[in-house]
Amino acid sequence: MGNVNFGRRVARVAWVLMAAVMAAGLLSMGAQAQDADDPETEATQIRIVQIPLMNSAKGMRLFASKGCVACHMINGVGGKRGPALDAKAGARIVSPMQIAARMWRGAPAMIAMQERGFGRAIDFSGDELGHLFAFIADAKRQEGFSEALIPIRTRRMIEELNKNVPNK
Ligand code: HEC
Repeated sequence: MGNVNFGRRVARVAWVLMAAVMAAGLLSMGAQAQDADDPETEATQIRIVQIPLMNSAKGMRLFASKGCVACHMINGVGGKRGPALDAKAGARIVSPMQIAARMWRGAPAMIAMQERGFGRAIDFSGDELGHLFAFIADAKRQEGFSEALIPIRTRRMIEELNKNVPNK
């Protein structure tokens, strides 16, 4: 009797194990099939797309020298034509894509204003943009941003531009 019961139990356990292995196999096949069809999953596997090294110290200097500071305030320094770009101190993870999307949304107004103010839109390389994003995201680095980093002609421009801004 005991032996028969034991035999049945072994058989039941074996069935359960086999079912589990088959289910896992089917699931992983399903996942693979989905991976191959899903363009979004495939895109993440393209190795030539690489986020450049982003350096917030370089970004801080570019923010002043490129003239972003003419319209954007950080750490209380800069122009008032555009929104202040202070990083949120609590934000631990910031996606550069998110910053790009925000910039894209503001681009038409920003470019029109740059063309009026400077005679042309500000130009930058991909690496420079990466450094700028790192600075925009880096609350700690932003604490070191001061008037001293801004070229004299840009300081004059800020004064001019701020004159025409209605007090917020
Ligand atoms: C001539 C003025 C001007 C200059 C110079 C300028 N911006 Fe802007 N920027 C604006 C304005 C105005 C907006 C908001 C547009 C809107 O709300 O539609 C904006 C929006 C943005 C935004 C989105 C802000 C948000 O909260 O959504 C980012 C990011 C930004 N600018 C980054 C930059 C960077 C980086 C530079 C330098 C390469 C720069 N800007 C130079 C005027 C300027």
